[in-house]
Amino acid sequence: MRFPRKGREMACTAAQLRILGFLTKSVAVLGQQGGQIGQALQGVLADGRLPVSDLQPAVVPACVLMPGLLLDPRDPLMQSLADCVDDLHWKSPGFGRIPDAVSRQMAVVEILGPDGMFVHQRVRLGVLLQGEHLLYPNHKHLAQEVYHVLSGRAGWSVDSVAFQPREVGDFIYHRSNQLHAMKTQTDPLLALWAWWGDIRSVSYEI
Ligand SMILES: [Fe+2]
Repeated sequence: MRFPRKGREMACTAAQLRILGFLTKSVAVLGQQGGQIGQALQGVLADGRLPVSDLQPAVVPACVLMPGLLLDPRDPLMQSLADCVDDLHWKSPGFGRIPDAVSRQMAVVEILGPDGMFVHQRVRLGVLLQGEHLLYPNHKHLAQEVYHVLSGRAGWSVDSVAFQPREVGDFIYHRSNQLHAMKTQTDPLLALWAWWGDIRSVSYEI
């Protein structure tokens, strides 16, 4: 487990402003859902004192899929992701606990959170990329979670129920400790995600 980096006051580099543009739109899209995620995100960006970490742009092999997914942004949220995609600190998902054969076909960025590019202790928010023809097997965590599909499609299984198709624009919620799995076919999946509640990484199990 990597501990949060000591933050500093929000800087205004061009890259940070591009990332903040995507973060602001992401918070708006998820916050408009209301309910618990709306409450969790309320005030996250309000006080203008969000610390930035010193995480630098980074890629993992699965990022090779990204240009194709961002070629023709369909809305302002996707455009803002396209604008900052090269500024993001991409890494393997699952806190190092996903089998290598799976995780090397995936990428994640934590934009906001204890391990994020912008530091926050109550919410994690980021983007997940899952390559095509890939099963991200059943996993769970104490944090409550929402996914919002940005590109592609996947079968989604919650509580070990049969995979249901999920497509662009869909929101998928997971309760605390609820088993979930995602299975792609011909298309990669690109999705916005957020955690709230008990967001400690130690509870992640796969
Ligand atoms: Fe999850």
